[in-house]
Amino acid sequence: MSITQQLSTKHLLGIKYLTSEDIHLIFETADSFKEVINRPIKKVPSLRDITIVNLFFEDSTRTRISFELAEKRLSADVLNFSASSSSVKKGETLLDTVNNILSMKVDMVVMRHPAPGAPHFLARHIDANIINAGDGTHEHPTQALLDAYSIREKLGTLEGKKVAIFGDILHSRVALSNIFCLKKLGAEVIVCGPPTLIPKHIHELGIGVEYNVRKALEWCDVANILRIQLERQDIKYFPSLREYAQYFGINKALLDSLDKPIVIMHPGPINRGVEITSDVADSEHSIILQQVENGVAVRMAVLYLLAARG
Ligand code: CP
Repeated sequence: MSITQQLSTKHLLGIKYLTSEDIHLIFETADSFKEVINRPIKKVPSLRDITIVNLFFEDSTRTRISFELAEKRLSADVLNFSASSSSVKKGETLLDTVNNILSMKVDMVVMRHPAPGAPHFLARHIDANIINAGDGTHEHPTQALLDAYSIREKLGTLEGKKVAIFGDILHSRVALSNIFCLKKLGAEVIVCGPPTLIPKHIHELGIGVEYNVRKALEWCDVANILRIQLERQDIKYFPSLREYAQYFGINKALLDSLDKPIVIMHPGPINRGVEITSDVADSEHSIILQQVENGVAVRMAVLYLLAARG
């Protein structure tokens, strides 16, 4: 595979720093890789001799496996690092950890970290390409790219489409990256959730806010339903999960009462019976597993384009 265009950036720190041309280039490149990973031989030599380390300071299932698979499909050499079984436990700093790893001639770093801005900090101090795999409550750019790519695949375009993001917007890096990405691609965006879980100044991002789930569902073409992030909540934002499910959960009866189909998305992990019922998550309107499948092709595209950028 060869490309003539380049990304405008050496790192993928957030969707905020991408142009709409960058996003379209990632999608067109992902289209080619999606074709590759559906062949009997799913591997291409594009990143042979490139070494990538996956640094995970926070738990992950989808993102970690998806990056590792994307790297292996591109024939990169892959190192996996988990903070919980490393010398971070003995007090080693992030910069020391990364510099030690880079002295082993690593070209790219994929990092998930609980601190917002941690990948930006690394990008200021080291030469390798950095990919943000989620930094605290800040951004999760590859999740937003695979979400938008999945909507494009389902509806043909993002331009003019109405996307509602439901749930714990306050603690969600997926929400912020999705808002940046969807807006850059011409979609209309609203968020919906309890007032305590909607950031006060969110309308400054050029989006709407709706507190009534039915009204938000009636408005949208796509519902992206997010998890309540209890692990990031140090105070109570709503009385109980049961009450949350009753007032803000999305169930089949609610969807069936609308007179139109809606594309159902969720970045995972799902809390079944809280923000979404199983019969919605597993319904014919759900593209949740297509999101996961597309994540590999999108991450292959990001890795390939950043490696080409050098
Ligand atoms: N969507 C997502 O980031 O899932 P993981 O936390 O399992 O990687």
